[in-house]
Amino acid sequence: MDIGFLTLDIRLFDWFSGSKSPTSNVNLFCPHIKNNCLNPPAFAEASAGKPVYRLPSTVHRPPSTVHRLPSTVHRPPSTVHRPPSTVHRLPSTLHRPPSTVYRPPSTVHRLPSTVYRPSSTVHRPPSTVYRPPSTVQHIAIFASGAGSNARKIIEYFKNATDVRVALVVSNKKDAGVLDIAREHGIPTHIIDRSSFYGTEDLLGILKKHDIGFIVLAGFLWLIPSYLVQAYEKKMVNIHPALLPQFGGKGMYGMHVHEAVKASGAAETGITIHFVNEHYDEGDIVFQERCAVLPEDTPADIARKVQRLEHLYFPKVVEKLVSASNNPINF
Ligand code: GRF
Repeated sequence: MDIGFLTLDIRLFDWFSGSKSPTSNVNLFCPHIKNNCLNPPAFAEASAGKPVYRLPSTVHRPPSTVHRLPSTVHRPPSTVHRPPSTVHRLPSTLHRPPSTVYRPPSTVHRLPSTVYRPSSTVHRPPSTVYRPPSTVQHIAIFASGAGSNARKIIEYFKNATDVRVALVVSNKKDAGVLDIAREHGIPTHIIDRSSFYGTEDLLGILKKHDIGFIVLAGFLWLIPSYLVQAYEKKMVNIHPALLPQFGGKGMYGMHVHEAVKASGAAETGITIHFVNEHYDEGDIVFQERCAVLPEDTPADIARKVQRLEHLYFPKVVEKLVSASNNPINF
């Protein structure tokens, strides 16, 4: 194989240069000549029946520096008619995985479209998604007197988002509690005895204001059963003594504190209880005590008790209201 190979190279070299002095270097400089400028008869003669080995070119070719002007030859568009391909190409079944190339989000600013699009004429039925009623609990305060407890409750819930004092009810047109309500922009309602006990109109008023809880704060009338049933466990009263002592009909205001003083009790306090059809007999939910000193007068006792009322009543009401979310039996 080597002999035939050298022979071929020497003969080609001779053919191109006319030299009679063959050298073994020919093999290093001539492979491209062999490939591109063959003398076919000489090559065929020399390599007949022999395998030819061709070294890769080692010649360095610098990039062309010839400047070629763009062609100015006018080539008219082809007039050859090529009928559309009739080859049927099946859709590709090649699986192409999703591209993993990262493409950054476009930063091109697009102006809003000015194309007029008519409003949809598609009929959409009303949503059937259940939306619960407002979660703000509305409470009503019933009071007959000055309304110091009512004021404390109104102020306590003034900025609350879940509880709102939505109505003040009184049986006295000149009750101080009505002024407090107006001062805070709270609606008021005056009840008369015949309507209160002879009809259930008040339920309609309470429903209109969406009242879910009633607070009796110095309301002196006995509560009729239609109201007790509608607001079962959703109506509380505050009593200025430790029930069941010093309660019942006629036990209100200074009468209570005078009775406590007269009894010689060492302590008194407040009681917050649910309301039923009897004076001061509903289930007790909260009590707080204070000492009665030998020198305390009924007025001293009243001041101590009132301090407890103002401190605890709003907080207890808040807890009871948040615990009573079920609807009212209007
Ligand atoms: C309070 O002492 C309360 O215990 C009783 O009535 C009084 C109301 O006082 N049920 P005010 O009108 O709140 O000052």
